[in-house]
Amino acid sequence: MNPHLRPWQIDADDFPADSYASDQLEFLIGYAILAPSSHNSQPWLFRINSMNLELFADRRRALRVVDPYDRELTLSCSAALYNVRVAAEYFGHAYSVELLPDPANPNLLARFHLGLSGDTSSEDILLFRALTRRHTNRQAFREEPVPEAVLEALREGAEREGAWLEFVVQEEARNAVADLVAQADRLQWADRNFRQELAHWIRPKPAEARDGLLAHDLGVQDWLSFAGPALIRTFDRGGGQAARDRDVAVHSPVLAVLGTDTEDTLAWLKAGQALENVLLRARTEEVWASFLNQPIEVPELRDQLAALIGRAGCPQVLLRLGYAADASPSPRRFVREVLIPHKTP
Ligand SMILES: Cc1cc2nc3c(=O)[nH]c(=O)nc-3n(C[C@H](O)[C@H](O)[C@H](O)COP(=O)(O)O)c2cc1C
Repeated sequence: MNPHLRPWQIDADDFPADSYASDQLEFLIGYAILAPSSHNSQPWLFRINSMNLELFADRRRALRVVDPYDRELTLSCSAALYNVRVAAEYFGHAYSVELLPDPANPNLLARFHLGLSGDTSSEDILLFRALTRRHTNRQAFREEPVPEAVLEALREGAEREGAWLEFVVQEEARNAVADLVAQADRLQWADRNFRQELAHWIRPKPAEARDGLLAHDLGVQDWLSFAGPALIRTFDRGGGQAARDRDVAVHSPVLAVLGTDTEDTLAWLKAGQALENVLLRARTEEVWASFLNQPIEVPELRDQLAALIGRAGCPQVLLRLGYAADASPSPRRFVREVLIPHKTP
């Protein structure tokens, strides 16, 4: 087995309840790193400072072509922050969070302060259990509808975190959004820089990957995996990718757009937490999610998507939701690889 799948086997029974706060915070990072991130770039670093856990953007892992302003990078980091919150609540700790606590250091995205004792609700337990059951599921979903009550709960969860969530359920509207996804695929794949960046994150040896994507995730057949990066760098597979993505989008029972009213780092930090709330809450109802963020990554299509859903504001993530067989986990770097040493005064 790839050792970098071991982080998914984290066991809540190992929580060091009687130990120092710093040991407890280190344990919580084990849940943070299970968060989704664009291209599985895992662009986060953590530092423990007595009762505080500091979350830093690791901009060396930025995706300069698809994400030139570090928008998705910030969403990914704040999804990791949300996991820390869920885990802290599960282990019965109160906490407080300061977003962007140091104006002089924009890489310091959040400071999480672990308090002494708090209440654990049944909802906290459900979300916590979903942490290790959430993966991106890129399979085609069954056409079975997602109940209205589940969608309403997802919407409320996103709103509570300061974002909005709009659903695209009617067939005609889903077709229109799927067309945008296909158009975005064609535009992105025609760009050599996009292909080069994607190839950089493709891992030809799944058994050794610690981050990044498998060629399989992009629909490249397994037996071609070893050649994945070269294939992706060299050939414009935009037509094939567009057809495949359009097909899965059209046949998903629901498409969902998570967005914010404004476009700034604080909004992105809220959107990432709202996103992870939606993804975890969906899993508590056995609903899977997969991302189709391409039209949001192409500025002119992002405006068209906002117009299509009739919502003023800024779409941040396009998801499809539905039911499918289980998805495999993707690799993660170990906690020790993302933990930076405590600064000595
Ligand atoms: C902001 C953001 C954007 C993403 N965009 C896409 C996307 O457009 N297409 C896709 O297949 N996956 C996308 N993903 C999913 C990541 O590839 C996935 O989270 C990562 O590979 C780790 O896998 P996991 O989610 O199964 O843990 C996105 C994730 C995030 C957080």
